[in-house]
Amino acid sequence: MAKVEVDLSSIPEGKNVVVKWQGKPVFIRHRTAHEIQEANSVEMSQLKDPQTDADRVQKPEWLIMLGICTHLGCVPIGESGDFGGWFCPCHGSHYDISGRIRRGPAPLNLEIPKYEFKEDKVIVG
Ligand code: FES
Repeated sequence: MAKVEVDLSSIPEGKNVVVKWQGKPVFIRHRTAHEIQEANSVEMSQLKDPQTDADRVQKPEWLIMLGICTHLGCVPIGESGDFGGWFCPCHGSHYDISGRIRRGPAPLNLEIPKYEFKEDKVIVG
């Protein structure tokens, strides 16, 4: 399967990029210290699909996930929604800054693909 290589040095802190991997959108966010703190401050009891932020990232500043809503597969919009993360406009699912589902019909957190870091790059796939 083809992998995709992304140069992380070109993504400033506080910004999202979307890359394509196997025809699917992959969201990469360079999170700020504040966002990392926010992601870690959420009580597991508030989550529909309980997962710690640490379970979802390899490096806290880099959140890497599939940009496919776990409801019916629309592409959520970044920097949007009520939880500081992503919002799916199709039926109103709100995801937080860890990509966890917080409100709306989606049953699961945004999926984390396989990836690895190599120097200044991330390799998805
Ligand atoms: Fe995203 Fe339905 S596809 S809320």
